[in-house]
Amino acid sequence: MKIAVLNGSPKGMTSVTMQYVQYMQKQFPEHELAIVGIHGKTKKMEKDIGALQEVLDLIRSSDGVLWAFPVYYMLVPGYYKRFIELIWETGLEEVFRNKHAAVLATSIKYFDHAALYYMQAISEDLGMKYHGSFSPEMYLLAEEEGRAKTRFFAENFFDEIEKDTTTARSYPTVKRRDFAYCPGSIRNRIDPGDKKVLILTDSDGREPNLDGMIERFRASFSGEIELLNINDVRTDGPCLGCIQCWYDHKCIYDDDFVDAMQKKVLTADILVFTGAIKDRFLSSKWKIWLDRSFCNGHTAWLPGKQIALLVAGPLSQNSNIMEIFQVFFELLDANLVGFVSDEYGDSEALDRLLEDMAGRLVKFADNGYVQPRTDLGEASRLTFREVFWGRFRFPFIADYHAYFKKLGDREFPHKDYRTRLKNWFLMLLSYCSPAFRRKMTRSMKQNLLLPLKGVIDK
Ligand SMILES: Cc1cc2nc3c(=O)[nH]c(=O)nc-3n(C[C@H](O)[C@H](O)[C@H](O)COP(=O)(O)O)c2cc1C
Repeated sequence: MKIAVLNGSPKGMTSVTMQYVQYMQKQFPEHELAIVGIHGKTKKMEKDIGALQEVLDLIRSSDGVLWAFPVYYMLVPGYYKRFIELIWETGLEEVFRNKHAAVLATSIKYFDHAALYYMQAISEDLGMKYHGSFSPEMYLLAEEEGRAKTRFFAENFFDEIEKDTTTARSYPTVKRRDFAYCPGSIRNRIDPGDKKVLILTDSDGREPNLDGMIERFRASFSGEIELLNINDVRTDGPCLGCIQCWYDHKCIYDDDFVDAMQKKVLTADILVFTGAIKDRFLSSKWKIWLDRSFCNGHTAWLPGKQIALLVAGPLSQNSNIMEIFQVFFELLDANLVGFVSDEYGDSEALDRLLEDMAGRLVKFADNGYVQPRTDLGEASRLTFREVFWGRFRFPFIADYHAYFKKLGDREFPHKDYRTRLKNWFLMLLSYCSPAFRRKMTRSMKQNLLLPLKGVIDK
């Protein structure tokens, strides 16, 4: 049996993900795992359909496809996404139809599920028979339990292909509505006061609704609002995962990305990201930008910023996108005010949505409001604490100095010695005294309110 392994790691064969593939190959020499490095070929495939055909020929001649990649910002790396876009742009989806597919994604276990949802939806959109994913923490293979799971995953995939099994679809086909947005006149303009608003877009002029939304939103303010098109920022390439930024948050690229980030993005109070949905996310242009922000480290680098997203396309049919941005901004200590898309209502309704969003952003910025994190943000903070404050404090020294060192609340076991002593004493008492246990059982409801005693009258 032959499996086409589409390797998404920019590190080629020197990647964690490929160690898993090489392990599988060793374990199952009777099957061929034919690896193709997508990252290195993407630029060429964009210009030369022949280079894309080579990859597609490999897929044609294979019994199955293994999407193998590192999770990058809750999705696939930017160039991998570009490759996926190319499949539709060139109209060559039929190559994938009815092929068996599975996903291998390595990560540190921060929002890897979103990347898996994305790839499953893509596989289903391509008409593939999707057989699930294997998403190990990057070093799971070092343990026998991890190797056993890897063997089982591979063996099961081969078995499913051999039996030509079918699988149920989880993500219905996205329906795009036919709607041309015609922006109307402005009712009242919002004064941004001393707040700096920056609109970021990847528009290439091919999405009239997106351009209309941007212009209408921009015109909702009384002053001139800055618009930055990321296509105009010289970005020499995608994140290479090289971690050269480990010591000082300095990226190896010497292009205009860092400058734009520092001078425009980080100095704004209100950031409005805009784009159109391509397949199941925003464009790969945006994804490359997101990935490049890795050089800011695992710190909360957008504290207190107010954020909105203006999206053209079927956003609510891709709730994964909303969740990805929610966790991303929560982790950066920014305030995600909301999304506006063109998928419901008429032009007048969209005018109102854009105008009201403009007002809301300024109001929240004036109040310095950052809503409490949801479980998404809290859980991710804890994951980062475990990984970057804990296990990977080295090599991520820059994160430690810029961020984690200052956050006493991240320490675990925490330094609240009073609580630790109280817990120890009360646990001991519970084990030793049946009378204390009975009293606790009776008064549990009231006890849970003790930390809030007196606050109502404050
Ligand atoms: C730019 C970048 C973004 C990343 N984003 C995530 C992420 O969102 N979630 C996660 O769990 N790990 C993330 N990681 C960690 C990688 O997924 C992980 O180290 C992976 O095993 C690397 O695989 P590779 O060596 O095959 O490239 C990221 C790493 C980089 C460089």
